[in-house]
Amino acid sequence: MNDQTKNDSNDFSRKLTDILNYGALNLAMGLGYRARLFDVMDDLDTPQTASQISKKAGLNERYVLEWLSIMVTGGIVHLIKDQNGQDLFQLPKAHADLITRRAENDNMGIYMQEIPLLTATVFEAVEGGFKTGKGIPYEMYPGFQRFMTELADAKHRQVLVSQFLPSVENGAMVRKLKTGISVCDIGCGEGVALMLMAEAFPKSQFLGIDMSESVILKATSTVKETNLENITFQNRDAAALTENTELRGSLDYVTAFDAIHDQTRPMEALEGIHAILKDGGLFSMVDIAASSDLSKNMDHPMGMFLYTVSLMHCMPVGLADGGTGLGMMWGREKAVSMLKEAGFSDVSVEVIPKDPFNLHFFCKKRE
Ligand SMILES: C[S@@+](CC[C@H](N)C(=O)[O-])C[C@H]1O[C@@H](n2cnc3c(N)ncnc32)[C@H](O)[C@@H]1O
Repeated sequence: MNDQTKNDSNDFSRKLTDILNYGALNLAMGLGYRARLFDVMDDLDTPQTASQISKKAGLNERYVLEWLSIMVTGGIVHLIKDQNGQDLFQLPKAHADLITRRAENDNMGIYMQEIPLLTATVFEAVEGGFKTGKGIPYEMYPGFQRFMTELADAKHRQVLVSQFLPSVENGAMVRKLKTGISVCDIGCGEGVALMLMAEAFPKSQFLGIDMSESVILKATSTVKETNLENITFQNRDAAALTENTELRGSLDYVTAFDAIHDQTRPMEALEGIHAILKDGGLFSMVDIAASSDLSKNMDHPMGMFLYTVSLMHCMPVGLADGGTGLGMMWGREKAVSMLKEAGFSDVSVEVIPKDPFNLHFFCKKRE
């Protein structure tokens, strides 16, 4: 082995060790996030013992101690010895700012659950997909839908009404929403984004469409618990909207948040969105910021994570029923070309304030 090969081999060996350690740390952080341990530790003013932390969290001390050991060796939690040599643990504020529920849109802790949850849900199904090429239907991801709602809540609550909508048409969209227009959110999930918009703009009418019956039932029952009267939900396949005479040409504004790339027939869905808009109507597609050219994603700060979420979820759900299977990293070039093919002559791609993960594909239907 020459020196160069030896160095490469040592570097790669260190990298493999890092992969094992960080993969394990991600899993443990996902568990801790779920158990609210970061939030509990964030509320403590001074370093505490594992016993005190577990009591505060209402959790088993032995489990919490093992978890704290991972957090300490992983550099997430600080270890301090008191004068009796006893181990005390502290979550630094600078870390808590990024991994607790109070972190809202900066919350990276929430994402720590994603790969463990997908692994527990579909590891074997995805392994099977490598052999058969078949997709995996949405129904196979029951816990994941709940996670998506939690994520939507963290994402939308802080930025949708205060940052994103004011950025659309340089503020003109907010003026229209205040006056009263008809809006539809495609792939609305449990309706987090729609409810925030409906509350902020009571003179506008909001319709949520999702093909999952269970999320529409959940969204409908959640709305019933509010005073919102300007919001309805329909259980529909976006790919069938072109045939829908009731909705054709009826909407001023359509939104789709993270909801086009994992559809089985995304081209038909985009054509359907074009069909339900009024002439001159506007469409905001918010989707992942990436390039369609793999070589241009080499420096993507979240490339490995996003391609893995795509492998475990977005791509297989998009392949179900013989679907297209675009995958989450379909990229801006492909997205723009499909939007144009669907009939949108006017497509601009805009950066979203406070959201480096996504791009805003802003489209207009010809007058
Ligand atoms: C990744 S989730 C995004 C949910 C929500 N828009 C958000 O911001 O969190 C994608 C949603 O699209 C829905 N969906 C997938 N294919 C669809 C289709 N063909 N028609 C309507 N909804 C669809 C799924 O059921 C799911 O609720």
